[in-house]
Amino acid sequence: MSRNLGRQTFGSADDAGKVMTVAEAQALLQQWVENPRLQLHMQQVAYLMKCWAAERLQLSEADQHRWYIAGLLHDADWEKWPEDHCSRIVEELEKRHQDPEIIHAIASHGPRHFGVLPQSSMDRMLYAFDELSGLIHAYSLMRPEGYTGMEVKGVMKRFREKKFAANVSREEILEACEMAGISLEELIAFIITHQPAVTQE
Ligand SMILES: [Fe+2]
Ligand SMILES: [Fe+2]
Repeated sequence: MSRNLGRQTFGSADDAGKVMTVAEAQALLQQWVENPRLQLHMQQVAYLMKCWAAERLQLSEADQHRWYIAGLLHDADWEKWPEDHCSRIVEELEKRHQDPEIIHAIASHGPRHFGVLPQSSMDRMLYAFDELSGLIHAYSLMRPEGYTGMEVKGVMKRFREKKFAANVSREEILEACEMAGISLEELIAFIITHQPAVTQE
């Protein structure tokens, strides 16, 4: 379902700070992704990344944009080339001379699958948000009121229920929280506060 990337360095230092626009990223997604659930997932993760960069790290707008693009493209190749996830998008971004930190973040969003450890805070937050965002979205879909009134303890209950969103690895989420130095509860609280703002277009 994915493969070990077999390397640890991505992109070129000469390309630091070079980042495509949101419109360019969306054009790429339009070519590569049809599934609306997958599109929504990437938009959700992108938005969480941008909000974290802005609110928790007080990063510049340029940096917030870099965090957004990393989230927006992290699963871009999943639908067309599941066997090669995420090498296709990594290679595409290298070809387009994109910022190496963005490429590294994408390359390390599944360390157990891609063999690349998250290092920067961008890397670690992408890993932390990815699966948990999906679990929380699945929870919103089974609640009649969606995200309205959702509480951390309700998410925690689902988190402990192995059968709920069984494909979401709890182990990886806990590992990601530890790497990011954030408690699971704090991360859940951040996601349920911000994720409802992202709706399907
Ligand atoms: Fe992925
Ligand atoms: Fe993902």
